[in-house]
Parts: sequence; C-alpha cells; structure tokens
Amino acid sequence: MNRQALIGFIKQKREFRDLDNKFVEKMLDSRLKGKKVEDLKPRDAEKMEKETRACLREVYGAFLTPKFFQREKFLHKLKSLNDTEGHIRILSLHLSTRERLPYYREIYQKIFAVTGEPSSILDLGCGLNPFSLPFMNLKDVRYYAVELAKPDADFIQRYFDKFKINGKAINMDLTEAENLPSADVCFMFKVIDTFEAIQWDVTAELMAKIKAKWIVAGFATKSLGGRKMIKPEKRQWFEKLIANRNYSVFEVENEVFYIIEGFMQTQDTCLRKLGFKATAMFSRTRC
Ligand SMILES: C[S@@+](CC[C@H](N)C(=O)[O-])C[C@H]1O[C@@H](n2cnc3c(N)ncnc32)[C@H](O)[C@@H]1O
Repeated sequence: MNRQALIGFIKQKREFRDLDNKFVEKMLDSRLKGKKVEDLKPRDAEKMEKETRACLREVYGAFLTPKFFQREKFLHKLKSLNDTEGHIRILSLHLSTRERLPYYREIYQKIFAVTGEPSSILDLGCGLNPFSLPFMNLKDVRYYAVELAKPDADFIQRYFDKFKINGKAINMDLTEAENLPSADVCFMFKVIDTFEAIQWDVTAELMAKIKAKWIVAGFATKSLGGRKMIKPEKRQWFEKLIANRNYSVFEVENEVFYIIEGFMQTQDTCLRKLGFKATAMFSRTRC
C-alpha cells in the first residue's frame, strides 16, 4: 500500500471524511516516525491505520454526534437569531456545545463581566460554538470562527451569511497558525488539551500569536460523557504557563474557565512573558 492509499483508507470512516488530507497525513507521519508506508508489512500498516484513526478521533471525531452530518437540515430550519430552540438543536449536534447548553447564559455573563462587552471575538477550534451567539446578548459583534475542517468552517459561514452576522469562518490547522485576526476576546473553549494531543507545547506558541485583549480558556473537568473526573492537577502545566499574566477562574458543571489578560504584543515579548525559551518547545508531536 502507498501513502495516499493509506490516507484514503483512514478517511473512509464518515467521521474523518471532511478532514484535510494534509492534516491526516501529519497525524499518520507522527505514528510512522520516519518509516515509509511502502515498507510496512500489512500487519503494521493496519496498526498505523488504527493508531491514526484513534488520534483523529481524540482530536476531532469523538465530539461529533451521529446527527452532526445532518447539520445542513437544521440550519435550513433555523428561522432567526431569536429562534432559541433552533439554535439549541444545532448546538446539540456537537458534544462540547451540548454539555454546555444549560450554562451558556451564565458563562457569557461571567466572562463579559470581566472583559466588558467585546466588539470582536476570535473563537479558536470553535466547533459549533458560534451558534451560541444569541446567548451572548451582544448588540453588535465581529465574529471570527476558526475550525480545522473546511466543510465545518463553510457551514459556520453559511450561518453567518443567512442571518447577516458580521462573521468570518476560517479554515485553519491551529497547530500551524499564521496571521490570526485580532479581537477583543479570544475563546479557546476545550481546545487546549486537543492541541496538546496533536503537538506538545503548541499552546504556548499559539497563545503568543493571539492578538486579543482577553483570552478565555475552557477546560473539561469531566471526561466525555461525564463519567470520569479530570483532576485539576492535569491543568497545572497551563497554570504555570499563564502564571505571569493576570487571570481569574470560574467553574460550571463539566468545565472550568480561565479569563486571562491578553496582550497585543510581538511574539518574542509574549514568549519572554510566558517564561519560555522559543527554541525548546515547538517540535514534538504527540499522537
Ligand atoms: C473539544 S472540541 C471544542 C469545540 C468548541 N471550542 C467548544 O468548546 O464548543 C475541539 C475542537 O477543536 C477543533 N480542532 C482540533 N484540532 C484543531 C486544529 N489543529 N486546528 C483547528 N481546530 C482544531 C475540532 O475540530 C473541534 O471542533
């Protein structure tokens, strides 16, 4: 089997079909560790396929409900920005937004009480979170939504266009982010563990590229499905990373939020503030 055939094979599962070949290839390469696909025995090729799919599931597929692939139908039925039920139906299609549903208004009230009402938002690894816009109670906002798979970003853009929201959906692999738009508030809801699963230490590099007055990082406190608690110790590395910044923390069921003062400075200054040496940390892939 050659490389492209193996990538095609991995993508045969519905949940991975929308992912860019380049991203799937990157995940496969981190498993191959320099080996050539053509040299693999069938048993080893199967192992690579399984491991790559497991990794793609961890960072992408695990959050999609079966109805996620019918999202277009739900968008078509959405009547207006005041159609709360319709928005809830769409937010329910992704596990991250679904488990946040009872708390959305509280979450945004708490965030904006600290940051003030933003006139622009940058939502990194947004999933379906832009559909929570009606819960934000903002009068006028420019919304930048960044997602890994192009069809997912296109779907968000169709929502923005349908309701004339001042929004732009961007398709980007954030572990290789370049030129992020600046914004008052940047959301990083439940994405940091995901990015770290793709590449260790990439969060520090990414945060240094964010031009925002505030960064709001959300972490799951329970495993998907709510069965297991995730210990606070697992976030100690992140608290060390932001130790030189002003921040406050609040918690709702299943999720803890850090509201962190951002800065619109150069990457070098940010890295120094973060207490990191720029050379040491960008290369290790994890899954
Ligand atoms: C746990 S979900 C969180 C979704 C959303 N932020 C929320 O909390 O509702 C992680 C999201 O990150 C996205 N993602 C994963 N890796 C990414 C990458 N390298 N670049 C951009 N987005 C990524 C996934 O597609 C998924 O939507």
